[in-house]
Amino acid sequence: MEQITVDNTKEQMQKIGLFTSGGDAPGMNACIRAIVRTGLHFDKEMVGIVQGYEGMIDGNFRRMEGKDVSNIIHRGGTILKSARSARFRTAEGMEKAYQNILKEGIDGIVCVGGDGTFRGANEFTSKYGVPFIGIPGTIDNDMYGTDNTLGYDTALNTAVDCIDKIRDTASAHDRLFFIEVMGRDAGFIALKSGIATGAEGILVPEFETDLDELVRTLEAGHKKNKSSSIVVVAEGDDAGSAFEISEKVKERLQSSYDIRVSILGHIQRGGSPSCFDRVLASRMGYEAVKALLAGRVNEMVGILKGEIAYTPFSKSTKHHNAMNPSWVEMATILST
Ligand code: F6P
Repeated sequence: MEQITVDNTKEQMQKIGLFTSGGDAPGMNACIRAIVRTGLHFDKEMVGIVQGYEGMIDGNFRRMEGKDVSNIIHRGGTILKSARSARFRTAEGMEKAYQNILKEGIDGIVCVGGDGTFRGANEFTSKYGVPFIGIPGTIDNDMYGTDNTLGYDTALNTAVDCIDKIRDTASAHDRLFFIEVMGRDAGFIALKSGIATGAEGILVPEFETDLDELVRTLEAGHKKNKSSSIVVVAEGDDAGSAFEISEKVKERLQSSYDIRVSILGHIQRGGSPSCFDRVLASRMGYEAVKALLAGRVNEMVGILKGEIAYTPFSKSTKHHNAMNPSWVEMATILST
């Protein structure tokens, strides 16, 4: 991608747009609040773009004042709604979006979303010169340049709460459960929720799944009279879905495990954000507006080891933070 040059000095930047995009994540509302209130503090006009890129294409804008973001810091979902826009990936869609941004007089945009959102922003800026600053909002934690994405902590706590409950019934019935958590390309939710619930197996897309090894572990647990076993499976695991894996394991097991499958699904995306996510959202929203006013262009605001860090969109979307294999080893040792 060629070097993007845009003029977004403080004086130039009078009207700031903001939107949430991609899969929603707990904390997006807290982030909207922070963006709006920071912009207003610096005497900027704040404009919400409803439903992300879809709203840009349809001209669905709403002026936002301080009172519009009252009483939302604790709410899940997003008051600006979210979408994955296929239309924005077409030249016509982008052109329409640009015409609407021009007509509305928006000088710069803060977007909250994942890699698809940032890729779209990068393309839009290189074509039309409108600057963006991005906030990593996704439960998957799969963005490079930040230790935590917005919503990840809440999603983890939701997953842990659900798995704990499943453990109760699993141990009441001496059952083996395969529990699928979200994470198409990344297994961070599976890894952390698996460790936190003492799962006997954790399967993630980052490492090749060895079903024979898993069966050996489960058989060993059975011999030790474990009253229940839990295998946490990331949605995108290379061995298949939790249903598929449970079938494959069933065929290989010697012991007569009673097996059940549970898919946690979108419950992980909803709910009131944790304290951690509310604080993260507030910091990132505040810093994003300041970054835009300071002339930064097409960078993601992240927090690395407690400090604010900026990563170009082109880098933050290419890969995500590596998963440390010793965490998986630790989880296996601790659950035997
Ligand atoms: O990106 C967040 C995420 O929740 C992934 O974990 C999951 O694979 C995907 O979104 C599901 O997306 P949708 O709600 O569009 O089906």
